Amino acid sequence: MRHFIYFSSSAQTSGKALSGGDLMKAGRIDIAIHSFIQGIYLSHGFREDVTFHFIFYGIPDPPKHIEITVCDDLEISKKDIGTLIKKILYKFREGEKKEIFPGCFVEKKSFLKVIEDLTKKGVKCFILDKKGVSIRDVKIPEENCFILGDHDGLPKKEINRLKKSGSIEEVSIGPKMYFASQTVAVVNNELDFRGL
Ligand SMILES: C[S@@+](CC[C@H](N)C(=O)[O-])C[C@H]1O[C@@H](n2cnc3c(N)ncnc32)[C@H](O)[C@@H]1O
Repeated sequence: MRHFIYFSSSAQTSGKALSGGDLMKAGRIDIAIHSFIQGIYLSHGFREDVTFHFIFYGIPDPPKHIEITVCDDLEISKKDIGTLIKKILYKFREGEKKEIFPGCFVEKKSFLKVIEDLTKKGVKCFILDKKGVSIRDVKIPEENCFILGDHDGLPKKEINRLKKSGSIEEVSIGPKMYFASQTVAVVNNELDFRGL
């Protein structure tokens, strides 16, 4: 299974906040959507072996962890991912991990806790960073997770904590600073070549 964790310090965290409809003003939800599309969609189908995690720290009720794995029962349209995210946030209930639509969950969980829980399940996590080791030289197991930030990048304090723990590597997909969504496309392509 592949996982992507998309972190945003500004993406808004309630359905009501998103209901204004301007995704750019809602903490650049547009970047989250582009990244999700690169994570999950293929030309004629979906990547059912990918779980996409959004971790939003914007107003009014952070943090929110939204987890989506596409399955046959999920009705999803590329044109309306914003509405899907909004509906999932609307139906959030304090104190539970709630399945809102088939394969779509929402809960209150921090960035570090999401990573910790995946690691405990045997998923190897990598931080996507331009200065990291080339992805071409990295051994990647079948259970893997790639962590990326939005236009403001990843949270420095938490990333330093993860690096100090020694259990996580920084991986680069190339010498340029790419869009978040471009990094997801490149990682998916690398994993496809490796048959993972
Ligand atoms: C638009 S970039 C963030 C730019 C932000 N100003 C910064 O300095 O982190 C979005 C995310 O894509 C990932 N990224 C961008 N270029 C990368 C590269 N060359 N290798 C690996 N990850 C990269 C990082 O995770 C980054 O947080």
